[in-house]
Amino acid sequence: MRLPDLFVNRFREIYPDLTIDDCFACMQANSSLFFRLNTLMPEWQQVLSQLSEMGIDAQAHPLYPLMLHTSSVHRQSLVNSDLVLDGRIYIQNPSSLLPVLCLEPCAGEEILDLCAAPGGKTTFIAERMQNQGRIAAVEAVKSRFFKMKKILAQWNASCVHTYLADGRTIGRKVPQRFDRTLLDAPCSSETKLITDQPESWRYWSEKKIKASASKQKPLLRSAFEATKIGGRLVYCTCTTAPEENEGVVNWLLQQYAGSVEVLPLPKLVSDWRPGLADWRGENFHPSLESSRRVLPRHGYACFYLCLLQRTA
Ligand SMILES: C[S@@+](CC[C@H](N)C(=O)[O-])C[C@H]1O[C@@H](n2cnc3c(N)ncnc32)[C@H](O)[C@@H]1O
Repeated sequence: MRLPDLFVNRFREIYPDLTIDDCFACMQANSSLFFRLNTLMPEWQQVLSQLSEMGIDAQAHPLYPLMLHTSSVHRQSLVNSDLVLDGRIYIQNPSSLLPVLCLEPCAGEEILDLCAAPGGKTTFIAERMQNQGRIAAVEAVKSRFFKMKKILAQWNASCVHTYLADGRTIGRKVPQRFDRTLLDAPCSSETKLITDQPESWRYWSEKKIKASASKQKPLLRSAFEATKIGGRLVYCTCTTAPEENEGVVNWLLQQYAGSVEVLPLPKLVSDWRPGLADWRGENFHPSLESSRRVLPRHGYACFYLCLLQRTA
């Protein structure tokens, strides 16, 4: 199984105790297929009989019973099926459910989803709120914004209001407005690296990691400023790079010392790891050990999550 040497070496540096072949099994093209059922649709249970008519045997995922998993041999038939096109299922990795489960959005609240397209997490937030309340879904890239609008309409996610805007401006425009905020930040997306597929590595580099960290900081500042005092904020990425994870949140903790705290996360994944205490000579705030790193194994894509509370 081949991946860029630089990536493998960085991975070893982050997780010196791990046998990495065990992790990279989940970075193969043919790993399992996961999808979530859309309970905002009337008669959503009928999906189960349609799946069995298609000869697809799918089981509930232990993280969330309305996420199912099946063999990757069904990928093409599912991707091209009415189930996806009509918004009755959404294909996504279980790691993508974690930020929303940690955010714990409640019916009636006002939620900000700052980097929202194509809407995989927004639809899940709407579902958790049973479409009651208001979600502001912000996206800066036009093509992705319109794709998201289509998906939200297909999903009956009627409590979502969409904004084609630069997320960096939202904290200034509507300070202290939201009960909860999700920042699923644009990142170097190491989760998209696929073993033995060099085309999947083409845009990955340490330069990309540094550039991503520079973009994430003003987005996190904006997310923080848009959140109410007492409100909660989840910062997450689908990358292992500490520069984009602990490094970015550590920056926020320094900028807003006394106004923000890291909260512990509910135990959702058995073998996720605590946030790093340091990286390449930089010591992080000790509370960042309460953030969590999801390893790319047991069906989960690599992910980083940090739950923050605005205290002043
Ligand atoms: C990791 S993806 C979000 C995935 C999405 N949350 C989901 O679950 O479907 C990050 C998104 O942020 C968008 N983005 C990048 N820079 C942005 C900015 N300054 N303001 C708002 N969105 C931005 C990207 O175009 C991309 O769609």
